[in-house]
Amino acid sequence: MAKKRLVVGISGASGAIVGIELLATLKAHRDWETHLVITGGGEITISQEAEYDLEAVQALADVVHPIDNIGATIASGSFETEGMVVVPCSMKTVAGIAGGYSDNLLLRAADVTIKEQRKLVLVARESPLSTIHLRNMLLLAEQGVVILPPMLTYYNLPSVIEDLNYHIIGKILDQFGIPLKEFRRWEGLEQTRLSF
Ligand SMILES: Cc1cc2nc3c(=O)[nH]c(=O)nc-3n(C[C@H](O)[C@H](O)[C@H](O)COP(=O)(O)O)c2cc1C
Repeated sequence: MAKKRLVVGISGASGAIVGIELLATLKAHRDWETHLVITGGGEITISQEAEYDLEAVQALADVVHPIDNIGATIASGSFETEGMVVVPCSMKTVAGIAGGYSDNLLLRAADVTIKEQRKLVLVARESPLSTIHLRNMLLLAEQGVVILPPMLTYYNLPSVIEDLNYHIIGKILDQFGIPLKEFRRWEGLEQTRLSF
């Protein structure tokens, strides 16, 4: 059976570990093939925030593409994928995608994902958000891009940071129909708890 392909971009927003743990999770799904591209900014945040070095992150992917290889497979719409996730996604990369300004392979692969009407998920991270950031994200959302910020969530009762990370990863994987056992879904309140 042919493997399903997912393009994973890591750019220079805070939260590199979420992208890394997503790759580690996908490694266990042998029916999926990951194609990784990391920006220069992403390399910096990995070095600043993660206990992984760059080679260890790259080893989690099935295929690694250099950021300046605009002739890579994922730069073409004829290369079939199930879509792409940029995690984390900086505001610069949001702006590049929103502007169709594909001057590196991550931006080009995202542009291709949109033009082929495949699923594009952006784990866009900045705080606070300016009107420029918000406008760019609105423009992308209007094109069907999923804006999935790495929000803190409390209803899953996190006790360690990994619980927060896995909640975000679970939401990303949900977009592609990939199960995650660590993902604690909301099961609903009992009616009696709803009265004030
Ligand atoms: C440690 C660190 C954390 C950063 N966090 C963010 C962030 O959360 N969001 C953001 O938009 N930019 C952030 N930046 C700035 C981006 O890395 C910078 O704008 C870079 O040019 C983005 O380029 P890229 O999207 O090609 O990776 C951060 C930079 C560093 C060094």
